[in-house]
Amino acid sequence: TTQPVRFYHRGRIVDVSGVHPTRSVLDWLREDAHCTGTKEGCNEGDCGACTVVVGELDAAGQLQLQTVNSCIQFVPTLHGKALFTVEDLKPQCAGQLHPVQQALVECHGSQCGFCTPGFVMSLWSTYEHHQAAGTQPTRQQLADDLSGNLCRCTGYRPIIDAGQRMFDL
Ligand code: FES
Ligand code: FES
Repeated sequence: TTQPVRFYHRGRIVDVSGVHPTRSVLDWLREDAHCTGTKEGCNEGDCGACTVVVGELDAAGQLQLQTVNSCIQFVPTLHGKALFTVEDLKPQCAGQLHPVQQALVECHGSQCGFCTPGFVMSLWSTYEHHQAAGTQPTRQQLADDLSGNLCRCTGYRPIIDAGQRMFDL
């Protein structure tokens, strides 16, 4: 028998047994875990609609976050790591959005919204990284951090505006 794939997800440790080695994290999330906030766009690693954040402890015991395209990430690669999705930004109190989401609202960073969960997770990774370091990203750094996310309708300026605005909220 093979070992279950064990990782942190939505506040608890999950053991996933019997998963096919090439089962994508995206399909596992949407079909098995019923977390449908993560969207499928191209399903081949080009658009970023499926962006999630994977956390891993470094040698110093610090959690390092990395954005990944969940459509081309296989479930077994999560073993020993943490998986964060847009569901993790669910507000603590009703009506209160996470600063990343609030900034996107205020800067009009979403139109059809299909790309938005992916942008939210890329921005959240940037937010967490800079909050921990006590820094703020430049517009160029934000553009680099968002380079894996495509949006067909909003344009990138309002989304980069939101990436700056989120640090003021
Ligand atoms: Fe487009 Fe994953 S669905 S990169
Ligand atoms: Fe429509 Fe980005 S808001 S694709």
